[in-house]
Amino acid sequence: MRIVVLVSGTGSNLQAVIDAVANGVLPVEIAAVGADRLGTYGVERSANAGLETFEVNFKDFGTRSDWDAALLEKVASYSPDYVVSSGFMRIVAPDFINAFEGRYVNTHPALLPSFPGAHGVRDAMAYGVKVTGCTVHFADAGVDTGPIIAQTPVDVLPEDTEESLHERIKLAERELLIKVLGDLAHG
Ligand code: GAR
Repeated sequence: MRIVVLVSGTGSNLQAVIDAVANGVLPVEIAAVGADRLGTYGVERSANAGLETFEVNFKDFGTRSDWDAALLEKVASYSPDYVVSSGFMRIVAPDFINAFEGRYVNTHPALLPSFPGAHGVRDAMAYGVKVTGCTVHFADAGVDTGPIIAQTPVDVLPEDTEESLHERIKLAERELLIKVLGDLAHG
């Protein structure tokens, strides 16, 4: 199973996938790692791991649709079986969803459909939930929407900060993402 992973930031969950592949735990080929901006640590750590990387820098494009087309062309050029959004903080266009229908997987640090968006951990804490978690789902053209594949609950502790809670969620998220990718690889 060939995957392309998309990131916008540090890519710590991606690193867990890279390690699982390297350790033989995950029977997947990471065809490439791409970002929507320049200089992400996610791309840097992928290059350090010897992976193919690319940047389709949103700011380099005059219009949103030009960027959409460039991203689709670049990702499609690797002929991936699945595309994984791992902290990729940009919504993709319907053309992208159509091209990878049922094959575009996203992770989110909350129990969707609650608390979608860029601040899922902060929003859950602000609401005062006592249990939150992470979701791996097939993404559609909405913000963290689409059929849910798997979820893991994570308790919110009284002493939690957004950072401490997000770190604990990411531990669960990494495990869940690797499990889901393994299940997809095994059909
Ligand atoms: C992850 O927690 C991921 O679920 C979240 O960004 C983090 C990326 O961390 N994505 C979203 O919030 C999508 N709405 P990482 O770059 O260290 O892997």
